[in-house]
Amino acid sequence: MISIYDTTWNATLYDDKHNYVAKYGEDVVRLLAPQNGERILDLGCGTGHLTHLMAQAGARVIGIDNSPAMIHRAQAAYPDLDFRVMSATDLHFDAPFDAVFSNATLHWVLDKESAVEQVARSLKSGGRFVLEMGGKGNVEEIVVAIRKVLNRHGYYGNAAIQLWYFPSLSEYTTLLEKKGFRVRFAAHFDRPTELKDQGNGIKEFVRMFGNAFFNDIPENEIDTVLTEIQDLVRPTNYRNGSWFGNYKRLRIAATKL
Ligand code: BEZ
Repeated sequence: MISIYDTTWNATLYDDKHNYVAKYGEDVVRLLAPQNGERILDLGCGTGHLTHLMAQAGARVIGIDNSPAMIHRAQAAYPDLDFRVMSATDLHFDAPFDAVFSNATLHWVLDKESAVEQVARSLKSGGRFVLEMGGKGNVEEIVVAIRKVLNRHGYYGNAAIQLWYFPSLSEYTTLLEKKGFRVRFAAHFDRPTELKDQGNGIKEFVRMFGNAFFNDIPENEIDTVLTEIQDLVRPTNYRNGSWFGNYKRLRIAATKL
């Protein structure tokens, strides 16, 4: 998870209430098809569950994340694996990788040019880059509601924060081609994602992932703001007794030329 804003990650909450992130990521591991002995970088490994899955396939995986809390939890869960605190825009390793894998991370990297350059530099020629991230329109109703409610309360600076980058398919594949990749597969698809907390799914989601929007807002006002955000998206994000994030994913497989 990588952002210029100071998002302090609660790694325990991430595993308990948002474990669908790793669950869905298993499909992305299948797309990568890690091979025995391959050297793989897991970029934005979070609490390490997918790093572990790739290691089970016999790959030699290094998991990186810029959140010390995530890396600490990953290392405790999988002590035999290699985890490091590192930013996607500053990758430094002794040897190039056969593949770079990234799930639900690159939408946090606002300096996308630098991240893609760094990935290209970290790969062998012919190496694979397989990723999934939020694409254009991802959780759009939630983002619109956050800005609307923050503006309503006079927090104009907070409302204008750019926390995530959700590119269109053509934008991201063009960037990859510009940085020396051949795109072999690309899809931009809807994945409505049921949030775990049935009562306050949106409030929990925004509190967990959008914490930076609330910097310097008094704690007693944050809950009011969150409630208003949740109420605003009820028509689009609540159905059959559950809250949903209307996820739109970009899934891409590319090869370094
Ligand atoms: C996502 O995985 O799409 C996502 C996660 C947190 C905040 C925004 C988007």
